[in-house]
Amino acid sequence: MRQPLLSQKSGPLSGRIAAPGDKSISHRALILGALSMGTSRIVGLLQADDVMATAAALVQLGAKVGNERHEWFVTGRGVGGLMAPEAALDFGNSGTGARLMMGAVAGHEMTATFTGDESLKQRPMGRVLQPLELMGLNVVEARETLPLTLIGTDDLIPIEYRLPVPSAQVKSAILLAGILAPGQTTVIEPEPSRDHTERMLEYLGAKVVIGERDGQRAVTVEGDAELVARDIMVPGDPSSAAFFAAGALLSPGSDILIENVLANPTRTGFYQCLAEMGGDIVFEGEHEASGEPVADIRVRSSELHGITVPAARAPSMIDEYPCLAVLAAFARGETRMEGLGELRVKESDRLASIADGLTACGVEASIDGDALVVVGMDQVPGGATVATNMDHRIAMAFLTLGIGAEQPVTVDDARMIATSFPDFPDLMAKLGADLRPGNAGAE
Ligand code: S3P
Repeated sequence: MRQPLLSQKSGPLSGRIAAPGDKSISHRALILGALSMGTSRIVGLLQADDVMATAAALVQLGAKVGNERHEWFVTGRGVGGLMAPEAALDFGNSGTGARLMMGAVAGHEMTATFTGDESLKQRPMGRVLQPLELMGLNVVEARETLPLTLIGTDDLIPIEYRLPVPSAQVKSAILLAGILAPGQTTVIEPEPSRDHTERMLEYLGAKVVIGERDGQRAVTVEGDAELVARDIMVPGDPSSAAFFAAGALLSPGSDILIENVLANPTRTGFYQCLAEMGGDIVFEGEHEASGEPVADIRVRSSELHGITVPAARAPSMIDEYPCLAVLAAFARGETRMEGLGELRVKESDRLASIADGLTACGVEASIDGDALVVVGMDQVPGGATVATNMDHRIAMAFLTLGIGAEQPVTVDDARMIATSFPDFPDLMAKLGADLRPGNAGAE
């Protein structure tokens, strides 16, 4: 049964809040923990469906995973030590879990079937399989979507690979296979994508070299690596914090502090946009935790104006476009976001989901090739039911829009929010937003 959720105009947002653990780092902490010798203690792991699916898959592959409240423990099997699973590995909604684990499985002599939910089964896997096949992975039946059966090998070939699309997931899958191959494996990126895998590999003892090939970033890992378990602190997720920041900016009189947020420059493109739009946003108390930069983010409501977001910035804010697009509806003038082709293959076709949702809410939004154009308004009408298309970020973005719209906004199904941010409704309400169950008849 669908669970519609409604969001309506509230007073200002205020207070201090901690964003949930970063999803990308949480997946990596579990996977690299399972490939380490010893027991890793992970503090601040994101407890959401996507990450739990990865944890369950790792247990099927022989790792031990458990928790005492918010502290998680992974007892690994060492690089190359995973065991063949007895049943299919189900990654639910998570592209990150599925794609990274394909890299981890590639270097083990085993057969494993990967599957997921209806959204994940639509998403392209060829981009990961192609380089892994060059390294020696076998794919049973020539398919490019889940369910897929893969045959790994303990005799991988190291490769040098230039990514055809900027994708941290593809890069990470190759690096996770690379630590099992003899010699050096190099990934060359057209645009730098999030670098958590390389940072964490180095933190756990692998040899990683960041260099350049023809002006592009090149990451090299040394194969036959040994990883040694260490404590991993997971900072707050800037992609989840984005909704708090947007809500505070668009709701007059707001003043919030989001604590302990990952401030890695490969992830902060959204916050750069907010500053360029005239947002009052300050990073405070920057420090490092487990090899990653972290900061508190202070946000006060602001008069915003539209900007052009260049395509080169897309990888550093790829998951934040739904949030930026709804915020752009409240900014003076036009916001043009370029180079968004990858949004078509996310949890939904996000370009279409965003444009349709904004149009339903009375906002002028259009798709121009790979660009999205949103025209801001003094008063955003709202008053619509938005189709979330099984996409958690579409649901959260339009609930954020409802905070400032003239009429309430309903999202047709809020269940997918649990994949990345189960506490979103409660934490938004804690800041002062007015969220309540929607009309079950909403379509
Ligand atoms: C992720 C990388 C991004 C992002 C996803 C998480 C990761 O995907 O959209 O939510 O953790 O590596 P792509 O690498 O496919 O762009």
